[in-house]
Amino acid sequence: MAELSRERLHALLRAMPKAELHIHIEGSLEPELIFRLAQRNGLVPAYPSVQALRAAYAFGDLQSFLDIYYAGASVLRHEQDFFDLAWAYFERAAADHVVHAEVFFDPQTHTERGVPMRAIIVGLAHAARRAHAELGISARLILCFLRHLSEEAALATLEQALPYREHFIGLGLDSSERGHPPEKFARVFARGRELGLHLVAHAGEEGPPAYIRSALDSLLVERIDHGVRCLEDPALVQRLVAERVPLTVCPLSNVKLRVFGSLAEHNLPALLDAGLCVTLNSDDPAYFGGYLNDNFIATFDALPQLGRAQAYQLARNSFEASFAPAADKARWVRELDDCFATTAA
Ligand code: ADE
Ligand code: ZN
Repeated sequence: MAELSRERLHALLRAMPKAELHIHIEGSLEPELIFRLAQRNGLVPAYPSVQALRAAYAFGDLQSFLDIYYAGASVLRHEQDFFDLAWAYFERAAADHVVHAEVFFDPQTHTERGVPMRAIIVGLAHAARRAHAELGISARLILCFLRHLSEEAALATLEQALPYREHFIGLGLDSSERGHPPEKFARVFARGRELGLHLVAHAGEEGPPAYIRSALDSLLVERIDHGVRCLEDPALVQRLVAERVPLTVCPLSNVKLRVFGSLAEHNLPALLDAGLCVTLNSDDPAYFGGYLNDNFIATFDALPQLGRAQAYQLARNSFEASFAPAADKARWVRELDDCFATTAA
């Protein structure tokens, strides 16, 4: 395919239909909403202003981000707060031509503060239903366990969430990766499998390739979140390619959390060249400087070897890697093909 001008490539990246498969809803909590919810819930914000809070968003690694991220999430108390949070994300996602979103949520962050499981899940599910009705986005929820807590706590969380089983499609694993290998959660993921839930896990973000192997072998996950460190293990890459295990890669996140020194140093081109089923995602857009289209545009600008063909591949991979029904995937791929056909090279 011949290359497009920068402007036309940007327009294509913005307009193409896409799925987002790695977005933590708590990571879409913008400072303005933190302040609004703090006021509504009678809480004193930890920072004097939105500007001061934003200025604190300079992270040395994953843990330094998580400390601020969990503090921000502490303003979420009521069902309406969770609805408002998710609705704001879905409006942003629709503007980015996201047609399908699989959204992570961290119930333990909230239940540990006494928030009822019902308020969390019902609030998020209500926003997801409305996103479908009013924005045309198909939205699904994935319940994530905090890996710095125990497996017993994860098992208890899953049992607490079961009355709301109809509202989520899968289980994930997030939070501090180093020192918390996937196999720590083998039993709770096995229970999720029995329940017919899809399974994903963060692995190979800061942790070694062995954590990716463990997520596949101990947890039987269907996708790896991040997974960028797989390239350190060529045999693992071969396996991920052969088994067509998707990686949900988050470039702006990787730079903000110092997994890579800059976007220009990101290994996305090498992951694509290896034949991996890579998707692009925003992770925690309120903290990392951008939503999904910001990730696409900044990454393509920093890596000139990425062009129209890679844009198509990434969008197509996002549908293939999703847990949506085959008929929906086929329809979105047709819409993607139409979008590319009308943007002739
Ligand atoms: N929770 C929110 N964002 C995360 C990330 N990038 N890694 C692990 N846990 C997270
Ligand atoms: Zn993540």
